[in-house]
Amino acid sequence: MKTFALTAFIALTVFLFLTALFFFVLTRGALLLRSLSPQQDAASHVYPIYSNMRLIKLVDYQPVISAILLFQYPRLVSRIVTELQRNNLTGKKVLVTSCAFGNVIPRVVEAAVQSGASEVLISDIVNNELLNAQGKLQSFESKIRYISDDATAMRQPDASADVNVLFFLLHELPHPLKAKALNEASRVLKSGGKLFIGEFHRPRIAILRAFSWLYFKVFEPYGLALWDKEDPVHYLQSIGDWSVVRNTYFFSNFQMITATKK
Ligand SMILES: C[S@@+](CC[C@H](N)C(=O)[O-])C[C@H]1O[C@@H](n2cnc3c(N)ncnc32)[C@H](O)[C@@H]1O
Repeated sequence: MKTFALTAFIALTVFLFLTALFFFVLTRGALLLRSLSPQQDAASHVYPIYSNMRLIKLVDYQPVISAILLFQYPRLVSRIVTELQRNNLTGKKVLVTSCAFGNVIPRVVEAAVQSGASEVLISDIVNNELLNAQGKLQSFESKIRYISDDATAMRQPDASADVNVLFFLLHELPHPLKAKALNEASRVLKSGGKLFIGEFHRPRIAILRAFSWLYFKVFEPYGLALWDKEDPVHYLQSIGDWSVVRNTYFFSNFQMITATKK
């Protein structure tokens, strides 16, 4: 019995270590390596896990993605879905600024179309992400347009969308790009339009804060500043013209921001 428990413990430790190493190599590790290259482009901050189709297919499983967000993923998505269902979107245009793993895009698209949206625009800087999203959305094909676009310098006209969804994008952008993405989100939204932002938030419990801090330091170096210096709510309030509501989840480890443009 003792030997079994020890073997199980060692196996679990090795599994967790290899999983962490896998994610490190495909996120922070790749960025560190890339920073050594003199050639940088608009997508240099994007992890290989989002650009290589084999890796996308390997990781994009709902239980894996839910686990990464401490099983809060369905609740966070439900916040957007409920708001979309509550609003009459007849003839309106919904923009999804950057794809995300899991079922957020199918759920958002379904809610938007059922509320009457005439078009859902799905954008991403990486073409494979658009193809991956397309594979999940066959039932709503006629209402969807896929566009290759950079959230920090969008090709969309001013005031062209009624709803804009940024689901866990900001924490992956280098700091100066966070403000640019929020400026663009504001520019493309019509007056009265709604911006939904799903993100990490500073946990209110010390132990969770310590783990979260470690997670960002190791894996996602651009995420930690969302706790304070790069708080999206403060930024939106500083540029004015927004009515902002923030809901936090799981001891405040996550946040859903619903911002209405005045
Ligand atoms: C929004 S995050 C989602 C991460 C989250 N952990 C999840 O649930 O999948 C990742 C997506 O953002 C995209 N992305 C990153 N930087 C971008 C940018 N500047 N413009 C548009 N899309 C971007 C990536 O290509 C990827 O599809």
